[in-house]
Amino acid sequence: MSSNHASADILATRQATLADPLTLPSGAVIKNRILKGAMNEALGDRGAHPTEPLVNLYRHWASGGTGLLLTGNVMVDPRQLGEPGNVAVEDETDMDMLRQWAQAGTENGAALWMQINHPGKQSPRTINQHPVAPSAIGFGGKYERFFSMPRELSRGEIEAIVGRFARTAVIARDAGFTGVEIHGAHGYLVNQFLSPLDNHRTDEYGGSLENRLFTDEGVAVVRPGAARRCRGEGRGLPMMGVLTQPVRKTSTCLTLPSRALT
Ligand SMILES: Cc1cc2nc3c(=O)[nH]c(=O)nc-3n(C[C@H](O)[C@H](O)[C@H](O)COP(=O)(O)O)c2cc1C
Repeated sequence: MSSNHASADILATRQATLADPLTLPSGAVIKNRILKGAMNEALGDRGAHPTEPLVNLYRHWASGGTGLLLTGNVMVDPRQLGEPGNVAVEDETDMDMLRQWAQAGTENGAALWMQINHPGKQSPRTINQHPVAPSAIGFGGKYERFFSMPRELSRGEIEAIVGRFARTAVIARDAGFTGVEIHGAHGYLVNQFLSPLDNHRTDEYGGSLENRLFTDEGVAVVRPGAARRCRGEGRGLPMMGVLTQPVRKTSTCLTLPSRALT
């Protein structure tokens, strides 16, 4: 074999490095394979609005060269927060600050995805006396004292929440975030729908695994919702992920097929 052929073979079979770009099935390209995981920043103000410290933080992270920055979980309903200091996005009230956040977080070619979430019953009683859930099943054991008993969501309320996920995704895109991630793990609402321990519903949102795939509906709604708004503007919601986590004996979490990252 000539030395030219040998080096071509080496290039063809070379393992990707952290510095190599990554092309997602959507066609979007992440400039390298380094991702900053979602971490709640607790930098929302008392009204759950985004603040300047968030802008500064993400400018700093983007300048470090990371390929993909996932934001901490941003709530789809300001009345239903997972932690004090969460940001919530339900309308375009904070568009100016969201644009500044997106601009700072995409400097230096970084991709910036907003992780969007609803806490369901996992909303501490110190900030929420009226949590909601797929079924009225409270926390047992050592966590019980931190959370109020949740109320079961009606079908109409579930549809409204799915609509909120879509709306928040569209606003994120319009502000300049390059993608969204639906938070489907860590015991929050999507995870509660998935779990047969948390979800005892007998309607079309409970029972079989298929019915409990609230995320599937969320994904379906978020994508066309975003796409509809994009037509004529020449750009779609470029990337989307769904965060899920593996089954553990002590947890109520399930794994979804890995097709989730699109
Ligand atoms: C302060 C803090 C806040 C976090 N907030 C989020 C969050 O908003 N969304 C999320 O999906 N994970 C969140 N996580 C979990 C992290 O993304 C990560 O999965 C977890 O820390 C495990 O990774 P590690 O072993 O590298 O720490 C948070 C973790 C920490 C430490």
